[in-house]
Amino acid sequence: MALDLDCTLAKIKDRQWALADFDWDAPGADKITDEQRPKLKAFMADLVWIEQVGGRAFAAMATKAPTEVLREIYTYFHAEEQRHANAELALMNRWGMLEAGEIPEPNVNIRLVIDWLDKHADDTPLATLGTIIPMLEVALDGALVKFLVDEVADPVCHQVFARINADESRHLAVDFHVLEMLGAGPIYRILISGVGSLLTPRILIGLLYYTPLLSRMRDNIIAMGLQEQQLYDAIGRFGRTGDRSPTTGRNPAYQVLKFHGEMVANRSHPFHRVIGNPLVALSARYPKRLLGSLPTWISELTHEPVA
Ligand SMILES: [Fe+2]
Ligand SMILES: [Fe+2]
Repeated sequence: MALDLDCTLAKIKDRQWALADFDWDAPGADKITDEQRPKLKAFMADLVWIEQVGGRAFAAMATKAPTEVLREIYTYFHAEEQRHANAELALMNRWGMLEAGEIPEPNVNIRLVIDWLDKHADDTPLATLGTIIPMLEVALDGALVKFLVDEVADPVCHQVFARINADESRHLAVDFHVLEMLGAGPIYRILISGVGSLLTPRILIGLLYYTPLLSRMRDNIIAMGLQEQQLYDAIGRFGRTGDRSPTTGRNPAYQVLKFHGEMVANRSHPFHRVIGNPLVALSARYPKRLLGSLPTWISELTHEPVA
């Protein structure tokens, strides 16, 4: 999966877009049914925040990138994720789901991941972030938007998601390229940076927050009336794409995430009964006061169609 990063960067620069490119008052907003509205609002709120998870991770990765080109790519990706969040807020606004200035609440599992990222992403090695981000993108960031397209008949939503999808396909290409690079070093280095970086208390807590996230999103997908199989197919893509590379499989952190994904995607696996579902239930009871206040950068979010 050799990827020419210079070429990719040029393409990224060439394909930038803005909220002002869309006519937010175009007809079609009324295609959202009253029955759809509350569920869609919760789903979109999660989506907005998943973009923030991606954006925050890319911001941290930009500071650790081994080359200038990759640093620049990650800086663009950070901005693109924020743009996705803003575009999704603008859609929610168009559909009459937001009060003035309202930033919708995410579910508690996303909130925990955001809090963790905000505190620790800058001190987490690229090897760890670079392994987790492809899974988050393949299963959530890029995938959830695709699932929604079939459900929502509003043409503006389709136009916006087409731009987001095009961005996401470049994110994934770079994500898997970096994942392959991470497995390409001498084996002792991979073992140290792979297993070693997973076993620090900080990362273990991060994994504890991450573990119920996919289970929780499965529940939300079912609540939206979408096929959970779509999520499992998206999760499976992590392993299918990763395993095509001769080196990616050497990264122990990759194997851990792939294994977790396979358990989530297997409906009859005891993981759900023993770990996944109890963690979702437990996090639902997580005391709100321990979550603290929202990170300050969240106030940069806006549905206004600025360039
Ligand atoms: Fe995104
Ligand atoms: Fe992304």
